[in-house]
Amino acid sequence: VCWCAIVGQQSEQKGAQHTSLGSPCVQCDDAGCHIILSGSQRVQIFTVGEMAEVQKAESVVSIAVDFGTAYSGYCFKFRKSKQIRMPKWGLEIGYDTLKTPTCILFDENKQFLNFGYDAIETYNRHKSKEEAKRLYLFDNFKMELYGKLNRALMISAKNGKKMRAIKVFSESLKFMKDHALDKIREHTAGMEYSACEATWVLTVPAIWSPAAKQFMREAAVQAGLIRDFDHERLIVALEPEAASVWCKQLPYDGFLEGDLGESDKIEDEPETQYMVVDCGGGTIDITVHEVMEGGRLKELHKVSGNNMGGQTVDKNFREFLRKTLTEDVFDEFEEKYPTELYRLMCDFSVCKRSGSNGMVQCPICFSTDSRGKTATRLICSESVYAQAAVLKGAVTFSTQPNIIQSRISLYTYGISTSEQFDEIKHKGRSSFENRDGVKFCNCRFYFFVKKDESIRFDEDREFSFSTVERDQTELNFRFYRTESKTVQYVDEEGVEEFGLIRVELPTAKKSREQSVRLKIKFGFTEMMATITDRKGNKTDAKLDFMTESLVL
Ligand SMILES: Nc1ncnc2c1ncn2[C@@H]1O[C@H](COP(=O)(O)OP(=O)(O)OP(=O)(O)O)[C@@H](O)[C@H]1O
Ligand SMILES: [Mg+2]
Repeated sequence: VCWCAIVGQQSEQKGAQHTSLGSPCVQCDDAGCHIILSGSQRVQIFTVGEMAEVQKAESVVSIAVDFGTAYSGYCFKFRKSKQIRMPKWGLEIGYDTLKTPTCILFDENKQFLNFGYDAIETYNRHKSKEEAKRLYLFDNFKMELYGKLNRALMISAKNGKKMRAIKVFSESLKFMKDHALDKIREHTAGMEYSACEATWVLTVPAIWSPAAKQFMREAAVQAGLIRDFDHERLIVALEPEAASVWCKQLPYDGFLEGDLGESDKIEDEPETQYMVVDCGGGTIDITVHEVMEGGRLKELHKVSGNNMGGQTVDKNFREFLRKTLTEDVFDEFEEKYPTELYRLMCDFSVCKRSGSNGMVQCPICFSTDSRGKTATRLICSESVYAQAAVLKGAVTFSTQPNIIQSRISLYTYGISTSEQFDEIKHKGRSSFENRDGVKFCNCRFYFFVKKDESIRFDEDREFSFSTVERDQTELNFRFYRTESKTVQYVDEEGVEEFGLIRVELPTAKKSREQSVRLKIKFGFTEMMATITDRKGNKTDAKLDFMTESLVL
């Protein structure tokens, strides 16, 4: 007997009919665990024994992964310990950092080679242009998830060749996972822990779209952090929120001026309001929180930010070099010496963080009258302390996901629903007739939440409905968002379709329409939907922000 991890999926496998999660699959020939593809969806089948094993595994450790545009890292904390551990990176090559560059290297057959400093080192060892060109080196790829996104997204390596983005992301996460589990083994005198004994936290920029969060979740499943059916083992945390969770337990001293009251820590002083600005490589993310009684946080202003992270400086520096050296010379340099250019850009980045005047040396002579070196001076500063805030806050968040008590909605969210067609009210709007000849208008906007509304982290917004056809066993709701707070129909200007909710009605009876409640949580870091039938049976409803029908 097999179990299907994706509700309602009809598998391409001969004879396999998948039903809702938790019900045994009927007529399945093959009881082995394997992965099959159905359209663009990945469907995983597990034997009953395996699934039970994964679900009963106790989460003994929390592992938070900060997958940054420029640098990535992780930390872990055992449930029963207060200590948060974070590995040091780059020691073998003279660095000592809390994160490693987000660079991943594949060989010419697209097989994973290295990640981080090791990826750069390996790439740089390939001295000749031809050798380097055969390898696939990716850096700065996190920002590919900003803006339009779909599962088939391809991204370009340094050599100009393309690979599937989901592979690049999932191999990066797999590296982090394996590294973390190895480190945990080292710290526990060789005790073996598997990924399913951990609760994973993956941090994402606050400005990430639901599609980008879903993309990261799917990459995490492919990387083996969690199994499809065990989605609760992965918490998607917002980077500036995680940083805020860390900041709130810092001493008051040094943060506020004037009368500090009796409290030692920010979280001990209700009504304290503060802003966290996370200036990363790709994004700048901002949150504004107020400390509530008990130390939990309330979001005062919706998360905001932009894509003007530190790497826009790197891009501009590159453009500056191109203009200074002339485009022809620069392009020839890039073509002939890709590794040298790469090294130069790395030096530039290191130089920005050095906290003092720095020198970026150009490894070749650009013109006959040049002295052979080109240098640029920079003055910058940074605190090592701040670097760990996102990770340490994220691991804390995993044990207290309710720590952010409420959030402000970025948009007005709703679905399109059908109501009986009224020739005057619905004039000119799209309609359809059911099999009993009843005409419906199908573009009514049903509000779940309005823009700027404060929603508790655990608050459900509900929609009760009856099926249009008697024998309906599944239905799809189109999910919409808009900046408007007074929208009435989904065909109005400014209303954007951005997701699909698939609802399976497992207890469908042919004789009557079904009454069901769709509940969606909007106050957490990801939206979550459940379906409750008349008898109170609950199932997860699949929210899909990357369906192919959507142009995002
Ligand atoms: N002192 C500094 N002054 C200016 N820029 C700096 C300084 N230190 C680091 N940077 C830049 O900050 C970026 C790295 O910051 P960080 O590690 O927070 O980013 P990230 O987490 O990788 O990115 P993101 O969170 O946007 O995905 C790099 O672009 C780096 O060049
Ligand atoms: Mg970051």
